[in-house]
Amino acid sequence: MTASLLPFEDYALLDDADCEARIKTAKAHLGERCVILGHHYQRDEVFRHADYSGDSLKLSRQAAQSAAEYIVFCGVHFMAEVADILSRPDQIAILPDLAAGCSMADMANRGAVERSWQELSRLFDPDETITPVTYINSAADLKAFCGRHGGIVCTSSNARNILEWSFARREKVLFFPDQHLGRNTGHAMGIPLDEMVTWDFTQPMGGLTGAEIARAKILLWKGFCSVHQMFQPQHIDRFLQQYPDTRVIVHPECSFEVCRKADYIGSTEYILRTVREAPPNTRWLVGTELNLVNRLAEDVRADGKHVHFLSPTICMCSTMFRTDPQHLLWVLDNLMAGQVVNRIRVPEEDAVPARLTLERMLAV
Ligand code: 13P
Ligand code: SF4
Repeated sequence: MTASLLPFEDYALLDDADCEARIKTAKAHLGERCVILGHHYQRDEVFRHADYSGDSLKLSRQAAQSAAEYIVFCGVHFMAEVADILSRPDQIAILPDLAAGCSMADMANRGAVERSWQELSRLFDPDETITPVTYINSAADLKAFCGRHGGIVCTSSNARNILEWSFARREKVLFFPDQHLGRNTGHAMGIPLDEMVTWDFTQPMGGLTGAEIARAKILLWKGFCSVHQMFQPQHIDRFLQQYPDTRVIVHPECSFEVCRKADYIGSTEYILRTVREAPPNTRWLVGTELNLVNRLAEDVRADGKHVHFLSPTICMCSTMFRTDPQHLLWVLDNLMAGQVVNRIRVPEEDAVPARLTLERMLAV
């Protein structure tokens, strides 16, 4: 069932308008057998075909509830892995372009996390002292690591609840791969900055002394999102000089300094909801991916709301952008022909403990 009956080469040069019509036909033909999930960062030409859109938490719930035979995930690799883990064994998760990864997720891998765990065991028993918390933006084998060590997964919309859950069980947290989500969430919970130390995974013992580790509540893996780190506090300052009445809203993957200057911090779904529900004639400066911001600006324009992108330069998630209408059509046409291409399948030995951590998260 995996050989490609219809090769991608036949689709690569199709124009977008042609794809648009053919995707609609394929969707109508496949009907309820196929559901398309679209993350908010997808380009318009793909996003408009999604049956459900959302942030990572909403889409993982959707994947868990879907009755469809095929779950086509227009997002990035870890999201399709989550869909595979949470769906029934007879359902098939598909990622239209296998090169759609997440550079932040790639900053932590199982070898480096296991090495860190070993190093920490020189100071204390980590399984007694530390809850490993992985951001959902991580490979399935890291979720499995958390499952095996009493840990849990979080997303940008539930990170605070998940940290509270973790501290109720053990005194410290190892948070990976995104240092910013960990620091911004810890700060909102009142944890002092000097009790959240950066774990530099390229250094022995994370580049920290035993005393620094002993004092820390959260060890923050030194990973980041290359898109969100483009936003700078001075971008906000400059904008506010021109439009002082602006409300600033950012994603928690932005740096601590940027989040300090924001009025609102939250997931992609939270950002959309907050701006949509805001009073008319308000002005917003938004710090997250450009496709989302452009669509939101268009969406609320009729209410007199002005939405601006936080950075003066264009920054898009290049891996989210890889999913184009050509790949989506190629996947759907193959399904119509009885062929599955680009299936994402997490090996059972990782899927079982990873499912445990994801279900723990969904229960919190
Ligand atoms: P959300 O869960 O907020 O959609 O974030 C996912 C992501 O990758 C942000 O960069
Ligand atoms: Fe990963 Fe950043 Fe892209 Fe989100 S925006 S998918 S964290 S690289």
